[in-house]
Amino acid sequence: MDYNEAYKKLEKYGQLHVLKYYNELTQEEMAALLKQIEETDMEVLLNASHKDEVDAKGKITPLSAMTLEEIDSKKEEFMKAGIDAIKAGKVGAVLLAGGMGTRLGSDAPKGVYNIGITKEVYIFERLIDNLMDVVKLTDTWIHLFVMTSDKNHEATTAFFKEKNYFGYRPEYITFFMQDMAPATDYDGKVYMEAKNKISTSPNGNGGWFLSMMKWGVVDKIREAGIEWLNVFAVDNVLQRIADPCFVGATILTDSDVGAKVVCKNAPDEKIGVICLEDGKPSIVEYYELTDEMMNAKDESGNPAYSYGVILNYLFREKALEEIVAKKLPLHIVEKKIPYIDEDGNQVKPEEPNGYKYEQLVLDMIHELDSCLPYEVKRNYEFAPIKNKTGVDSVESARELCKENGIEL
Ligand code: UTP
Repeated sequence: MDYNEAYKKLEKYGQLHVLKYYNELTQEEMAALLKQIEETDMEVLLNASHKDEVDAKGKITPLSAMTLEEIDSKKEEFMKAGIDAIKAGKVGAVLLAGGMGTRLGSDAPKGVYNIGITKEVYIFERLIDNLMDVVKLTDTWIHLFVMTSDKNHEATTAFFKEKNYFGYRPEYITFFMQDMAPATDYDGKVYMEAKNKISTSPNGNGGWFLSMMKWGVVDKIREAGIEWLNVFAVDNVLQRIADPCFVGATILTDSDVGAKVVCKNAPDEKIGVICLEDGKPSIVEYYELTDEMMNAKDESGNPAYSYGVILNYLFREKALEEIVAKKLPLHIVEKKIPYIDEDGNQVKPEEPNGYKYEQLVLDMIHELDSCLPYEVKRNYEFAPIKNKTGVDSVESARELCKENGIEL
């Protein structure tokens, strides 16, 4: 893209300020900026001005979950089906590790965070250990696909290598990168990270399957005969990955997707709530939850929307191929975005100062016809690390690890 083309594109989206420092740049910097302008999807920016419309939802009704008791009564059957599927190589795992982890406040990838007390225990290490439990149980290596972003790819892959993949077989680990999206102020004007660089951030965890296609990873999945993909977040250090019982339950109920859920501990707990939207499975994110939903009761007087997702889903791969062309909704999220000010000085804001534009994995659920919400014991499987201290933090996760006999 040459200067004139870049100018036209920016003019169309009201972003001409991106070229403010163009004449001060070296030839190389100019080329880098023009390339970034060419590659940046600016269509998403049009949404900032009608954010409320973008957030609009359909008719929400409750969706019940398969409870702990129900699961327990069919455990043997589910375990057998799950173990058979894993042994047949039909299950792969996808670690979503492209996020910025801004709430944790470390510039390094979240997975390299050391949560150990008496020894080093990294978040990635905990996840690999959890997956290894199933590898040992089934005597089968499970393919692990790790999504990174432009901001943490090098650091993530180098860390795994340095730590010898925590004992996992490297030929069973495949890294791929997600796309980035521009970040803006509240008026939808993109921030500049440097004089020759638009501020960008990972475009959410919803593009993972599309990115897998782009990187040729889906071909590998087909070749390996993988039919189910267990997608999970980097920050839950207790989660069971490729859990045979969950795999079996999802397969035997012939669901397009299984979603691990926990009983919420408070109506306003910050987790997405599973429900039906216009009769199809759906998840409402915590920041989109209305008071009406929080306070709704079922016929027995219990909270109607009491199950929250923990970002651990088992997708039928074929179903993903069918929905991949559909456009997922865009979430416009307030975040702290580093930028250069009018005078070209770097600013690292203490408070949110604009929007990031993200697509989320939870919206894939709504595109599918059937979803099995599968309850898990929260103290045994849910220890998310979002913050340094307080709720969902390094501190709370350490406590939960201790409760589960995990040495830190
Ligand atoms: P979070 O919603 O916790 O976002 O991600 P985050 O970016 O990691 O953290 P904050 O909000 O800045 O503090 C949930 C999961 O989705 C992944 C994260 O790595 C985490 O496993 N994710 C998030 C991606 O892979 N890509 C993204 O663009 C965003």
